[in-house]
Amino acid sequence: MDPEARTETGQGLIRPLRPADLADCLDLDRRALGGLWSETQWQRELAEANRPGLGIWQADGLRAMACGWLILDELHITVVAVDPFFRRRGLGRGVLAGLLAHGQAAGARHATLEVAAPNGAARGLYAAAGFQEAGIRRAYYRNGDDALIQWLKLVR
Ligand SMILES: CC(C)(COP(=O)(O)OP(=O)(O)OC[C@H]1O[C@@H](n2cnc3c(N)ncnc32)[C@H](O)[C@@H]1OP(=O)(O)O)[C@@H](O)C(=O)NCCC(=O)NCCS
Repeated sequence: MDPEARTETGQGLIRPLRPADLADCLDLDRRALGGLWSETQWQRELAEANRPGLGIWQADGLRAMACGWLILDELHITVVAVDPFFRRRGLGRGVLAGLLAHGQAAGARHATLEVAAPNGAARGLYAAAGFQEAGIRRAYYRNGDDALIQWLKLVR
């Protein structure tokens, strides 16, 4: 992912996440995901070339982000998060589409992720993006929720 790439869209500025975005990522992670990753984990995610991340900025802040790991021909999506005050405006769809396009350009042939079964918003987003259910991991999460494995073929 070219770290200098920048695209102005109707949704705001879309560009790759960089090490200097650490504080913004930590803040959005805390507010949207309840603090999925520690500062050390975020530093690593933002530093490694095979862990692409994309953000959408509007006015004064990071509104949406999506991250993944490129593993051989797979894009494993690890994070999709939108500022709670800016949901249902297409930002999740936009940042996810950008990450999928990057994964495809980098050689990924399919994308995969896990989503908690009760997470209707995320399931709706992934279904809208064309993901299909490929399996279930029972009691995968600490709170006992099942994880649904989602899978998308990235057409070349
Ligand atoms: C899931 C999440 C990223 C969606 O972001 P968003 O910007 O609100 O989503 P969008 O506005 O782009 O919605 C795109 C589509 O997803 C679906 N969707 C989004 N939110 C939904 C909801 N609450 N209920 C049902 N479907 C929903 C709809 O199909 C929607 O299209 P529509 O608005 O035309 O009906 C956001 O709710 C979020 O950050 N949740 C907390 C973090 C999280 O759970 N991340 C995923 C972990 S696997």
